[in-house]
Amino acid sequence: MPTATAVAHPNIALCKYWGKRDRALNLPATPSLSLTLAPYATRTTVTWGADADEARLNGRIADGKEARRIFANLDLLDPHRPPCVVTSANNFPTAAGLASSSSGFAALVLAANAASGASRTIEELAVLARRGSGSATRSLFGGWAEWPMGARADGADSHGVPLAPADHWDVRMLVAVLQAGPKGTSSTDGMVHTQETSPYYPVWTEQAPADVVEARAAVLRRDIEALGAVMERSAMRMHASMLAADPPLCYWRAGTLAAVDAVKALRASGTGAWYTMDAGPNVKVLCAAADEEAVHAAIAAVSERVERLAPGGPARVE
Ligand code: PMV
Repeated sequence: MPTATAVAHPNIALCKYWGKRDRALNLPATPSLSLTLAPYATRTTVTWGADADEARLNGRIADGKEARRIFANLDLLDPHRPPCVVTSANNFPTAAGLASSSSGFAALVLAANAASGASRTIEELAVLARRGSGSATRSLFGGWAEWPMGARADGADSHGVPLAPADHWDVRMLVAVLQAGPKGTSSTDGMVHTQETSPYYPVWTEQAPADVVEARAAVLRRDIEALGAVMERSAMRMHASMLAADPPLCYWRAGTLAAVDAVKALRASGTGAWYTMDAGPNVKVLCAAADEEAVHAAIAAVSERVERLAPGGPARVE
């Protein structure tokens, strides 16, 4: 049976996607900008043709909802596909706000495309990855990537696009891991709830595009202070939109704010470091490569574990 394996790195958004302008097509209400990060990676093998659909994630059979999400994505790739076997493993904790769905669906569409013998463009694959998980559309690309909202009703122009390759800028992203267990509210549920109930949501979507313009310019001229300022603002405004939902949604734990304070104290003492948080309690800290050890020491004191990440390359078939 035709089989193919693909590897993709997750990405962390510096300007956040939070809100959907079309739920069925998974189209975003905000543009976003991200950094793809190694050595975290998802490795996925797809066998195109089997007795029945089966998905194994990190060594266990995927449950109903997870499996449906995977096979619905393969149905989009080919509505007449044969039953498939999908085997996928992450080298990092799943569903703890560490963006595992971004690398997961990027690796899935790439492996499935190769296994099926089709030759889609990277843009077509990025649209398919978006349907699986919005953030996955950015993980097909290495280094710095953007996901514009797009204007078309069918979403064909809403997919990840490369901004600058991994070797454009030698930065680090350190993750203060505060709680590696599975998160309580999925990002989709969280953003839909925010959209439906938060009075701050319209303001969030209105101002988000300007952040991407600013962040893009900062990345291109390698201005970490300017990028750091936009990155913190985007994260806090996204979280403010959900804190104002009804009932309020808060992914933070006490340790989250302790890590944020540690980053601010480090900056006040002269070391450049900037934070962001996603749909989970962990804090991700951006810094220049030369400041990695100082940042590590500062956040290790307030977290369970610190992961060290650096710009990673594009998703690839192995
Ligand atoms: O596409 P999802 O379901 O992984 O949602 C991603 C949401 C955030 O991580 C909070 C922001 C982002 O742009 O990645």
